[in-house]
Amino acid sequence: MARELATVDPQERFLEFFKKGKYRQKISQIGITGRESITVDFEELFGFDQRLAERLLEKPDDFLQHAGNAAYAQLGIEDAEYASKLEKLTVRIVNLLGKEQLRKLGSKQMGKLVMVEGIVVRATPVRPMVMNAAFRCKRCGTINQVEQSGQFLKAPPVCASPDCGRDGPFEFVQDESTFIDSQDLRLQEKPEDLPPGQLPRTLNVKLVGTEIVDLARPGDHVSIVGVVRAFAPSRPGIGKLRTFILHLDANSLEVLGKEPETRPPSPEEEEKILALSKDPEVHKKIMNSIAPSIYGYEHIKEAIMYLLFGGVSKSLPDITIRGEMNALLIGDPGTAKSQLLQYVAKIAPRGLYTSGRGTTAAGLTAAVIREKGGSMSLEAGALVLADKGVACIDEMDKMRPEDRVAIHEAMEQHTVSVAKGGIVATLNARTAMLAAANPALGRYEPHRTVAENISLPVTILSRFDLIFVLRDVPDREADAKMSEHILEIHRRGESPVEAQIDAELMRKYISYSKTIKPRLSKAALKHLGEFYLAMRSASETEGSPVAITARQLESLVRISEARARVALRKEVSGEDAEAAIVIMKRSLEEVGIDLSSYKVDIDLIMTGRPKSVRDKLQVILSVLMEMEKETGMVEKTALVSELELKHKIPRAETERMLWQLLREGTIYEHREGYLKKT
Ligand SMILES: Nc1ncnc2c1ncn2[C@@H]1O[C@H](COP(=O)(O)OP(=O)(O)OP(=O)(O)O)[C@@H](O)[C@H]1O
Ligand SMILES: [Mg+2]
Ligand SMILES: [Zn+2]
Repeated sequence: MARELATVDPQERFLEFFKKGKYRQKISQIGITGRESITVDFEELFGFDQRLAERLLEKPDDFLQHAGNAAYAQLGIEDAEYASKLEKLTVRIVNLLGKEQLRKLGSKQMGKLVMVEGIVVRATPVRPMVMNAAFRCKRCGTINQVEQSGQFLKAPPVCASPDCGRDGPFEFVQDESTFIDSQDLRLQEKPEDLPPGQLPRTLNVKLVGTEIVDLARPGDHVSIVGVVRAFAPSRPGIGKLRTFILHLDANSLEVLGKEPETRPPSPEEEEKILALSKDPEVHKKIMNSIAPSIYGYEHIKEAIMYLLFGGVSKSLPDITIRGEMNALLIGDPGTAKSQLLQYVAKIAPRGLYTSGRGTTAAGLTAAVIREKGGSMSLEAGALVLADKGVACIDEMDKMRPEDRVAIHEAMEQHTVSVAKGGIVATLNARTAMLAAANPALGRYEPHRTVAENISLPVTILSRFDLIFVLRDVPDREADAKMSEHILEIHRRGESPVEAQIDAELMRKYISYSKTIKPRLSKAALKHLGEFYLAMRSASETEGSPVAITARQLESLVRISEARARVALRKEVSGEDAEAAIVIMKRSLEEVGIDLSSYKVDIDLIMTGRPKSVRDKLQVILSVLMEMEKETGMVEKTALVSELELKHKIPRAETERMLWQLLREGTIYEHREGYLKKT
């Protein structure tokens, strides 16, 4: 190109670009699709004219305008009829050569065109925004058209009518104004872009135009190209602040896939993966590589292995059945639950660690949030953000009351539905869940059932495929081994047991395994079917309520499939089914669901005819929690009366037990005479 670039009209140059091959064809077909914009691959523009592309990044406002004018001019040539219907054609740029780290955005990028990737955590509904506002002068009736920009609706300074020219008052005329669809999103850094130990940053994004609003929902991963803007928040009566807040004016938005982000394995890695899968000891090796620094808990590590690999989801025409597993660890304080969860969040592709309360207002599921300006927006919670990954939820018993309701749907249907404040949406939460909780009375009481030991309802408990109990009971031999193990860690500063498979390979191996969808063999079907029927008939003869439901059968299938997946096998063998049965039995036994106990617990709490002091403690606690739900905190005298009237517990006894609960810290005195559960 011999011409001096600076003298070339950029619009001319864009026109040359649009007259060539692919884009010319795109423009000629735009009328058929009815679109009002054309998407340009930045890399192709860069290949066509590097200088032009660079100036587009530097001065996006001017150059997007030039590009749009050129594209519109070309449309006039290709399809004059459609061009006359449109007022303009918008050029949307995708695929910038490099993406900008969300946390690095600053004053340097202001006014520049950048590309960022992230997770949509919050979205407002689509709202009309005024582009051209019509104002009627109340003095002379003239309609003044005012082109709008910025945040606030601008009225004309003075009436445009030469006979009037007065400064209003004006009234806004909706019918004569033009609107365009707009939406605000909040983008959050992806976990994989996060420096270790840092909290994710967020960026507000403004979308304008029918073609880019409503493309992304909370929980979606997106790539957005846009212009970095800054505006100064103003304080009423004081003026604008000197520090500005950044946001992005989006030019284009693409929803990215949700497959685990790790690169596909290299040929050498693939070789390693396949070799490992053929190892007859593969299950042991992987189990032993899960949190090797945590001593013992082989069965729990086995369960975690199944959870990491997962079963196969089935989409039938009428229903879908989840493949991802849910597991719950209930345990005494200091039994390494949090450590296990943190480890899993680190190793799992798309792992996320959160506490039951959640780290944001959206908690575990989702919430409709009222923003400062009064508008509503939908925010995704942890299970939605971990879609297609593993959510590790610590302290699950402490989740928000709203989540207690919504989590039922999330755990089985793998969706979160919201209908509130004018927002109606269903978000995906195809998440495997590893949860931990403390026992309701602080420590696990072995002669009680899970329902009593944990303040989660049976409806939630039954949605876990596997539940395990971690108890901290003094045991000379085990204590000696464990202390040796822990002290060794502290002495060496590293784990005495080395992982046989390093974390990097493990993550790759898990991602790789997900492409395999094992099917049940005849032998597996036979094992699972027989076990299920035996359990069912056992509960029949005892005349007890159903302990084993279809849920457990589906869990067994998932576990068997996961076990086949660990060995990258396409078929679920009889051996897989047997292993699934063993671990399922162990889980059922551990939590004391021995075919007849499901109902007993509930009856006990409901009817309030406690047999022992321990049972009475339980009743007192559950009544307290019920009352607390209604009133926030519980008046002691009201509680005592309630227990006397409805549960026949004498006053003196209640007083004594409340004192005990206060002392051990299960409840506390919020104000003089008012109690609250800790
Ligand atoms: N089996 C074990 N092997 C190695 N370390 C252990 C084991 N059990 C407990 N620990 C150590 O004890 C400490 C406490 O563990 P952690 O914080 O995970 O307990 P937790 O079960 O989450 O307790 P809480 O219910 O109070 O939250 C950790 O430093 C952990 O490494
Ligand atoms: Mg913990
Ligand atoms: Zn006027």
